[in-house]
Amino acid sequence: MNGLSNKILYGGDYNPEQWPRDVWEEDMRLFKLAGIDIATVNVFSWARNQPDEKTYRFEWLDDVMDLLHANGVRACLGTGTAAHPAWMARHHPDVLTVDSQGRKKKYGRRHNSCPNSPTFRLYSERMAERLAERYKDHPALLLWHVNNEMGWRCYCDNCERAFRAWLQERYGTLEALNSAWYTSFWGHTFYDWEEIVLPSQQSEHFNVSGHESTAFPAMSIDYDRFNSDSFLACYKLERDAIKSVIPDAIVTTNFQSNGTYKPLDYFKWAKELDIVALDSYPDNDMPMSQIAMRHDLMRGLKNGEPFLLMEQSPSQLNWKDVNPLKRPGVMRLWSYQAVARGAEAVMFFQLRRSAGAFEKFHGAVIDHAGHEHTRVFSECAELGRELQQLGDKLLGATTKSKVAIVFDWDNWWAIEHSSGPTKQLKYLRQIQRYYDAFYALNVQVDMIGTDTEVGDYALVIAPVLYMIKPGFAEKLETYTASGGTFVTTFFSGIVQENDLVSLGGYPGELRRLLGIWVEEIDPLFPDQTNSLVMNGNAGLAKGTYTCGLMCERLHMEGAETVAVYGSDFYAGMPAVTRNRFGKGEAWYISSDPEERFLSALFSELTASNMIVPVAQTPPGVEACARVKDGKRYLFLLNHNDRPSNVYVGPEPLRELLGGSEISGEASLPAHGIWILEDRNDAQGGD
Ligand code: GLA
Ligand code: ZN
Repeated sequence: MNGLSNKILYGGDYNPEQWPRDVWEEDMRLFKLAGIDIATVNVFSWARNQPDEKTYRFEWLDDVMDLLHANGVRACLGTGTAAHPAWMARHHPDVLTVDSQGRKKKYGRRHNSCPNSPTFRLYSERMAERLAERYKDHPALLLWHVNNEMGWRCYCDNCERAFRAWLQERYGTLEALNSAWYTSFWGHTFYDWEEIVLPSQQSEHFNVSGHESTAFPAMSIDYDRFNSDSFLACYKLERDAIKSVIPDAIVTTNFQSNGTYKPLDYFKWAKELDIVALDSYPDNDMPMSQIAMRHDLMRGLKNGEPFLLMEQSPSQLNWKDVNPLKRPGVMRLWSYQAVARGAEAVMFFQLRRSAGAFEKFHGAVIDHAGHEHTRVFSECAELGRELQQLGDKLLGATTKSKVAIVFDWDNWWAIEHSSGPTKQLKYLRQIQRYYDAFYALNVQVDMIGTDTEVGDYALVIAPVLYMIKPGFAEKLETYTASGGTFVTTFFSGIVQENDLVSLGGYPGELRRLLGIWVEEIDPLFPDQTNSLVMNGNAGLAKGTYTCGLMCERLHMEGAETVAVYGSDFYAGMPAVTRNRFGKGEAWYISSDPEERFLSALFSELTASNMIVPVAQTPPGVEACARVKDGKRYLFLLNHNDRPSNVYVGPEPLRELLGGSEISGEASLPAHGIWILEDRNDAQGGD
């Protein structure tokens, strides 16, 4: 149980402030028909709630809250601070942001407040406190939704001053800062904190062939850390204001960009949230493994705890060039995909489609037609019924993974701020490639941070671990020495947390663990390739695979060669290596290999570590499992738009959604889902 409800919560963003009162009554009737039991309200109502510095008027919100309660709908109460009122911008221009070119914004849009604006901090904190005081005893109140999709970047003078303070806190002295930033380069030595300006397009940043570059990556990484912390401080101000009134309030905010939003370090943020909440808006043609990875990441942020699917569209989006409908069955399928990977709420943006402005063509449960006789409403209502019927069955179920992939925002920032060896290296793409290999094998993966305990994993994969944060190399050594299998790739172990190279030879702090020395790194043009020639060592068959992006010239320092390069002047030199380390082993893949290689490697490493796939499925059928009270719930999700035959084993298993028993080989309908209850969780996923 997540402590929020005795079933998977079902609902979404509700903006009654856009509608006359009589429509609200009709909404309640429709919510009931659709099985909706939670509404996120007050997300964009700051201007309505506060017409000037001193006046607050919440009567309309009282009415909304009472109405929700009377109709059995719980409130996810927004603090409403994601769009400041126009009067605030006019009278207190410090709330307005400045872009990287130094242009001060005028009032407009939303997500428009500077995180270091004294005005914004004062009034947002005050608003959260007022709301908490007003609704602390309201029976509709279930949880709190601070701001909305926080995070952008600001380069104003207040941010610049706050950056200096943040740096003083981090480095203590200018000497320490000068050495961490390597300011002897291009004569940047700072003699006074006031000399430091924000790295932006006005200072250290410039564009080279479509890519933004920085002259001082260490400075830019620190800005990213600072900016993430600035927004986090705003979140904490509101959260603490709420908790000062309601100590046991459940407080969250919704994470954006499907959970991989680059400007905010969500591992650090998750520590401050009572429950992680995700907004998921995949394109219709986005590979399903990409969404699966992000759901696993959301579960990983708080060490396996469930999360809320806070927003998804019941059908189309509105902000792309072309915004196609979700095909019949797809919304249901994607909802269960989230549940399969740890979600304990399924929520939409939004419940009623706006009549005007930017989002009037965004999908909604209740369409402009205004009634329940639409395809989308019927599909939503059908899902609502199913979730009611599922009850608490899956609440608190956990996921057991033996494989972990390390995901680290600092590393992401660092890699993509780096000038050279190649701008073609994209962190998310690399992470996804390794994730995909396991997804295709139906082997469950936990996405973990550098702080996460690794002792229980049989396999830890850290793709492009360019930056090694303090203590992480030792942690990996301890893990491997005690029997773990560690895998890393090219461009790893290069720098320390401030982007200063670990001198003495790559891969720096990982050199001992990997038993290799990387002498040179050779990036390839997008149309160039090399090859990995397998020599039949380490349980892998002989064969040749294509590779590209980056190749490295490496020397053995105790590791054994598993593959050599097939061409160029380093043909015959080691390309893939394995090093026995204590009771475990550490692998190094020095180039970016084709998918077939990763699949061969991880088939072998999962088999040798006795990691069993959760199921065998045909292409396009996703499988994953959650366990609870000694039972295993196997989710089979057919992403194909045709039925697919799946073998579920000889024993009849009860299917939770349809109520039937399924055994042997059976046909899973197009976009269909089975949740199969297995009497014991002994097999698979463990
Ligand atoms: C985001 C926001 C919502 C809404 C949706 C539309 O996720 O949080 O307010 O704008 O996008 O897709
Ligand atoms: Zn600012």
